Parts: sequence; structure tokens; C-alpha cells
Amino acid sequence: MDESGIKKQNWDVKETELFLEILKELDMKKCLDGRKVRNNKLFKVAHRRMTAAGYHRSVDQLKFRWKLLKSAYYKCKREPDSPAPTKIQGWWRYEKTMVAIMESRHSLVGAGVNSDRNDEVTEDSDGDASMLHWPQPCPDNSTHNLDLIIKMDPEMDTQLKIGFIGAGNMAFGIAKGILSGNVLPVNVKVSAPSSRNLGRFQEMGVATTHSNVEVVCGSDLVFVAVKPHLVPVVLNEISQHVTDRHIIVSVAAGVTLATLEELLPENSVAIRLMPNLPCVVQEGALLFARGSHAKPEDGALLRSLLHRCGLVEEGPEAWIDIHTGVSGSGVAFVYLFAEALAEGAVKMGMPSALAHSIAAQTVLGAGRLLRDSGKHPAQLRSEVCTPGGTTIYGLHTLEQGGVRASTMSAVESATERARELGRKSATAGSRK
Ligand SMILES: NC(=O)c1ccc[n+]([C@@H]2O[C@H](COP(=O)([O-])OP(=O)(O)OC[C@H]3O[C@@H](n4cnc5c(N)ncnc54)[C@H](OP(=O)(O)O)[C@@H]3O)[C@@H](O)[C@H]2O)c1
Repeated sequence: MDESGIKKQNWDVKETELFLEILKELDMKKCLDGRKVRNNKLFKVAHRRMTAAGYHRSVDQLKFRWKLLKSAYYKCKREPDSPAPTKIQGWWRYEKTMVAIMESRHSLVGAGVNSDRNDEVTEDSDGDASMLHWPQPCPDNSTHNLDLIIKMDPEMDTQLKIGFIGAGNMAFGIAKGILSGNVLPVNVKVSAPSSRNLGRFQEMGVATTHSNVEVVCGSDLVFVAVKPHLVPVVLNEISQHVTDRHIIVSVAAGVTLATLEELLPENSVAIRLMPNLPCVVQEGALLFARGSHAKPEDGALLRSLLHRCGLVEEGPEAWIDIHTGVSGSGVAFVYLFAEALAEGAVKMGMPSALAHSIAAQTVLGAGRLLRDSGKHPAQLRSEVCTPGGTTIYGLHTLEQGGVRASTMSAVESATERARELGRKSATAGSRK
């Protein structure tokens, strides 16, 4: 047992997901060569990032967690048809990222998938970090790449200048998340035509202006957070000031990377980010896609900046509209459900205010349990169902009402609508 008492504290889903995302990013830099000195540097960077995110594990604890995850991966590979009994609770959540990390490494070195020797470890046993061989030889490994990793460390965020064009709810939510990390308010500037939304940025110590050009000239990374129909207007205005040092991140729904790249100077680095409203309480779900000139490290930088806003994922642009359906609009679907829960309670005689606060807490608690337990929703649902009890009766009523089918259709409709708006914005952008 670790004397600090930290060792026995279980890893939750968010912590493990963040850890794997950090390792995935570092892996992408292709600076991993299997030598112990490099391994140590790698895990030290991961350690600093985890600490910055509020997770206080020692370097050895991180190494041991990696070893457990790797063991689970090999076990699943060896026994693909078995239910994969692993020591990692909620393994299914991490499997995709682990496969991405391990397969990219296997393709580089041609290693066999059955080669792990250390998979009979338990979460309670003491990790022997020296047994760990995280990286494998990588063809284009270089000291330069290692420097890049160090530069991507959150401490480096303190140097980065960040701009927001648009000062609305989304800009505010993202700015709040970024400022709760390593970015200093003096390095952030926000613009909007009126002053009505600027006060709350000033309260956070952020400089404000009415000039979009001033924001671009003073920033390395610029969030374009205006309404979608204003994106062409804004990009036309700033375009001549965008240089190859800039990363332009648009959060505008439906505005495609092709449109952004067409409106920006040639070879501009553009990223399309789709946040959702809970960013304002640092519980967002964010998905981004990189444009044709945005490098993996640009994505890694964005991910590192945004990790305080909630869950941050990268994917192909085609998924952005799906994300809009499931998460951007999905927030409203959950509100509808919460409202209906409360109204059911009111119908049964509970005072409205109490019913609404209980419904809100129920949605929050169920969401946190779902995220943090690592369990599949069906499993959690069955755990609440006593045979012949109240919940199974209620669930039967919901199924009779077609709640599952209509929710799936709602995500489908919202996704289709996002695609349709994207096509319209592309047509509008090309007319400019
Ligand atoms: N809200 C969401 O849940 C959500 C989710 C995903 C994506 N998004 C996207 O985020 C973007 C912003 O949404 P929002 O909800 O934050 O909108 P919002 O609250 O209406 O804010 C829009 C901001 O843009 C500013 N603005 C208007 N014209 C401008 C110009 N020419 N130059 C610079 N700034 C200008 C406005 O200035 P004033 O302050 O002077 O009015 C305002 O601060 C939209 O494209 C939306 O699609 C929103």
C-alpha cells in the first residue's frame, strides 16, 4: 500500500479515458522508441498533464495503469469470443482507444498481438514499473519529436495566445474551461460588435475589443464563435490577417471544413469543433475534425486546451453532424425527458418546484453513474429493476410509448438536419 494512501483509490472512467487520450496523443508524435529514458520522459509528461487536470497519481502509478490496460488488450486479442474477464472495470469503454494505440504501434514494428507476458496482474497488486515496455521502436523517431511533446505539455499553454471572435454562450463556456487550465487570462482576447456580452469576459480578466482583426493579429489560435450565417462575413473580414501561425477553430454548426478552407487563405489550418451547451459547466461533449492542413499536433494542442471543458474527441468530419444530433441537440432531448419526468410527478400530486429539482438531480445522478461506473446503460437499468417491481412496470410503459424508437429517430432527424444545413452553408460560402 502506498503510504500516501493514493494507490488504493480506484481509477474512474474519466481519469482512465483522459490518461489514454494523453498516451494516444504522445504516441501520435511517433517519438516512442522503447528505451527506458524516453519511457520515463513520456510518462512524466503524462503525469504533468494528469496533475494539471486534477488527477494526482505518481509516475509509477500511471505506468502500472498502462500495464493493466495493455494486459486487458492482449487478453481480449487472445480470446476474442470470450466475455474478456479483465481486471479493468468497464474495459469496453477503453477498448477502442487501446486498439488504436496498440495497432498503430504493431503496424510500425510488426509485433505479434500475443506477445504480452505480464497480463496476470491485478489492480491491487503493486506495479513494477521497470517491467513496462510502453513504446516500440519507431522508424522516424527523433529528438525533435520529443521536443514537440514537451512543447505540448500544458505548461506550454501559458505561452499560447488565444482569441475568440464572438462573445456568446459558446465562446464563454469554452473560455471558462480553457482558463481553468493553464492558459492565463492575459493571453486571451475576445471580440464582439456590442458590449452586452463582454462584461463576463472582463470579469475573468480577459481583454475585450470590438475589432475581430485585433483578435486575429494578437492570437495563435482563434475560435470563431459567431452564428453560422455570419461565418462567411467574419472570415472575409479577417482573412488577409490569417497567416501560417494561426489555427482557426470554428464552432459554427453546419459550417463545413471545405467552406472554412475556401474562405480562408490557401493552406490555412482550420479545425471544425462541435461543442455542446454543458461546456458552460465544464461537462461538455466536444468532437472536432481537422482540416486538410491541420496536423495531428494541432489537434493535440486543441484537445489539451479543451480538456477542462468536458469530454473531447477527434473524428472524421462525417461524425460531426452525428455528434450534433446525439449531443448538441441531445441535450434538448434530455431536457424534454426531465420535464416529462417532473410533469409525471406533478400529475401524481408533487409540487412543481420540487418535482423539477428532483427530476434535474435524477438526470444528473443517472448521467454521472453511467459515465463513472463504466457500465453499459442496459446493465445499470437492469440493476434498478426488481422482478415484479415498480421500475419494470414503468419501463414497460415507456417501451409501449416507443421511447426508444422515437429517441433513435430524433437523433437521426437532427443529424439529417445538420447535414442539410451544412449543404446550404457550403452553397452560401461558395457564392461569396
Ligand atoms: N449554443 C450551443 O449550444 C451551441 C452548440 C454547438 C455549436 N454552437 C455554435 O456556436 C456558435 C455561437 O453560438 P452561441 O450560442 O454562442 O451564439 P450567441 O450566444 O448568439 O453569440 C453570438 C456572438 O457572436 C457575436 N457576433 C455577432 N456578429 C459578429 C461579428 N460580425 N463579429 C464578431 N462577433 C459577432 C455576438 O455579438 P454580441 O454579443 O454583440 O451580440 C455574440 O457575442 C454558433 O455558430 C452555433 O452554431 C452553439
